[in-house]
Amino acid sequence: MSRAADIGERLLYQEALSLTERAYAPYSGFAVGAVVVGPSGRSHHGVNVENASYPAGLCAERAALAAMVAFGERRLRYVAVAAAGGRDCLPCGMCLQALAEFGDPEVVARVDGEVGVTALRHLLPAPFVTAPLAGPAAAADDGGDAGSPQ
Ligand code: THU
Repeated sequence: MSRAADIGERLLYQEALSLTERAYAPYSGFAVGAVVVGPSGRSHHGVNVENASYPAGLCAERAALAAMVAFGERRLRYVAVAAAGGRDCLPCGMCLQALAEFGDPEVVARVDGEVGVTALRHLLPAPFVTAPLAGPAAAADDGGDAGSPQ
């Protein structure tokens, strides 16, 4: 990680840690909580939700991201992730790609036993990017601007 977390970032990590109690992880036993924060400063929560059909499981970070977008925010400032018991945990590759769609937030996580902070771009320097579809078909699909990040 690039630096140690400040007091506010530690609180975000603790918020993510408390969410692990609500995770549904009967298959891996690895409970994860995530908090994402957009421009409003509001926390949006997620936990991992596993499934008997393993690939149908969802990571905590993408669950939190969906909550943020459903709330109406599309710009990430902070992502905090925590695993039950305070075990080390960084966002997986798929989550990094999903998060990168909405900016370059500070990522707060425990690594080597310390809660630290680093920019998402340091964890995923080369995300896949493409322009949103343009033209009448796309506009009809999403109601005009529904696909544009804010
Ligand atoms: N998991 C997350 O929730 N976030 C990550 O970034 C890594 C992995 C979950 C998925 C699965 O339910 C469990 O942790 C073990 O991989």
